Amino acid sequence: MSDAPILGPMNNVTDLDAAGDFERKHTPYISAERDGDKVRVAIKVGHYVSHPNQPDHYIQWIMLYVDDAPIARFDFVPVASDPDVCVTVEVDPGTTLRAVEHCNLHGLWAAEVEA
Ligand SMILES: [Fe+2]
Repeated sequence: MSDAPILGPMNNVTDLDAAGDFERKHTPYISAERDGDKVRVAIKVGHYVSHPNQPDHYIQWIMLYVDDAPIARFDFVPVASDPDVCVTVEVDPGTTLRAVEHCNLHGLWAAEVEA
């Protein structure tokens, strides 16, 4: 099994409507629901197009950044866990929430939203 590099390059798909299935199945989907000072952040890989979850091809981890600071990390094993997570954070409105995921074959993919 070959592992994709974890130091880049970073794939950022800015126009998912124009993207193909390969880009869509790797780009993290982020939803952010504010409740007062807290924001419930849900991140899923495979929202747009299903991504494989097999021993030889799967999402190894997802990290959540607030601006440039890493604040949460989720690690997965293939088959038994899905890259579909949520966490509650306390951030100011307008703060950038960025999700980065790593596919063992296809490397790093990122997406971001405002809190
Ligand atoms: Fe992949």
